[in-house]
Amino acid sequence: MENRSEASSGKKREIIENPTQAPPPMNTDPTLRGDYTKAAPDYAVEQDWSAYTAEEHALFRRLYERQSKLVSRYACPEWIEAIGRLDAGREIPKFCEINRSLSRATGWTIVAVPGLIPDAPFFTHLANRRFPVTVWLRKPEEVDYIAEPDVFHDFFGHVPLLYDRVYADHLCEYGKGGLKATRLDAIGMLARLYWYTIEFGLMQTGAGVRAYGAGLLSSGGELAYCVDDARPRRRPFELERMLRTGYRIDRYQDCYFVIDSFAQLMRETAPDFTPIYARLRHLPALDPSAP
Ligand code: PHE
Ligand code: CO
Repeated sequence: MENRSEASSGKKREIIENPTQAPPPMNTDPTLRGDYTKAAPDYAVEQDWSAYTAEEHALFRRLYERQSKLVSRYACPEWIEAIGRLDAGREIPKFCEINRSLSRATGWTIVAVPGLIPDAPFFTHLANRRFPVTVWLRKPEEVDYIAEPDVFHDFFGHVPLLYDRVYADHLCEYGKGGLKATRLDAIGMLARLYWYTIEFGLMQTGAGVRAYGAGLLSSGGELAYCVDDARPRRRPFELERMLRTGYRIDRYQDCYFVIDSFAQLMRETAPDFTPIYARLRHLPALDPSAP
């Protein structure tokens, strides 16, 4: 991986950090429920762990226990290994405690945010090995479905894989690729790749197909569906098809892409996307339900 050494040099990190690009933090989308008023220019907030109620900790524990029953059958081995070490199922985790072991493992940290954040600060965080985690938890009536990512999705779905070296390096490269795609006006294509890998990706293992996408790992229903159900398509990893395939955010996926390993994901996304974006830009998007 030619640019992996650059990624770990402090010099490169300074270049990645571009605070002048960050818009003033505000909730531009009135449908987002987080409180953006106390956010820093990079959208970071304090976690204020003491403000969580006993009911919220109990709901987090309930979600965690429900998903934990499914993961041995449906989650990829890297995720299972990490969640075992984390031991974070009793209450909403303290991010500062997680960061002590996470930064030691792969150089990543998690940063508390009020909710979804704009692309530029999101990619900047990833490029600097910081994963934004939403501070608020869903309401009890939302245990089965939630439209915006909350602390359960972000933590349970995304954080364990940050302990895996290869995955962690790949996600950092993705962040840098996001900043580059912004300049190339190709965010839409790159967002599809994120969707079909980081959020809804499947992995072929010796024991069968398993989930590594966070949207699957945190889902009460789709985690079994994506592995067991005969209806959705499961395609082998195919970069250009992923960049072109549209997606629905409001129901189970029609199509999943299956990687062999995080090493494959890293390897196949390493080439310069500039000529690929230029070529694909004028082609129509593909229908995820197409045969
Ligand atoms: N290689 C991609 C580019 O040149 C960047 C990238 C890396 C995108 C990893 C996604 C994942 O733009
Ligand atoms: Co997510």
